[in-house]
Amino acid sequence: AATVRYEAENATNVQGVVESNHAGFSGTGFVNSDNAAGPYTEWTVNAPAAGTATLAIRYANGTTTTRTTDVSVNGTVVSAGRTFGPTGAWTTWATSTLTATLAAGDNKIRITSTASGGNPNLDYLEV
Ligand code: GCU
Ligand code: CA
Repeated sequence: AATVRYEAENATNVQGVVESNHAGFSGTGFVNSDNAAGPYTEWTVNAPAAGTATLAIRYANGTTTTRTTDVSVNGTVVSAGRTFGPTGAWTTWATSTLTATLAAGDNKIRITSTASGGNPNLDYLEV
């Protein structure tokens, strides 16, 4: 199936705000989470059939240290301690890709910060 882009600014964002002060994002902005453990961005992704999908997460991390997260699908962590390394600048965006099994119908895909730095700035999820 064709790749669909889900912008972070259209996701459910808890302890995060949509901003647009660092160029290079897709859509109208990106999500800046609080610098803490616990904030998350959650997208609802509809899959026509159950099966394996590629999840591509576009992000920026303008610090010199890694941001650590859990990635979950429908409440099950599928990538524990997933790290998003420095991209060199907040205006430099990179893509982190993983595969996951999706159910038929709506799937909740969540990236939750698990460390004090918070999530990286999140631009979009492509599935
Ligand atoms: C800076 C930057 C934010 C970023 C934050 C962070 O404040 O402008 O976009 O989210 O650092 O360290 O997470
Ligand atoms: Ca932040």
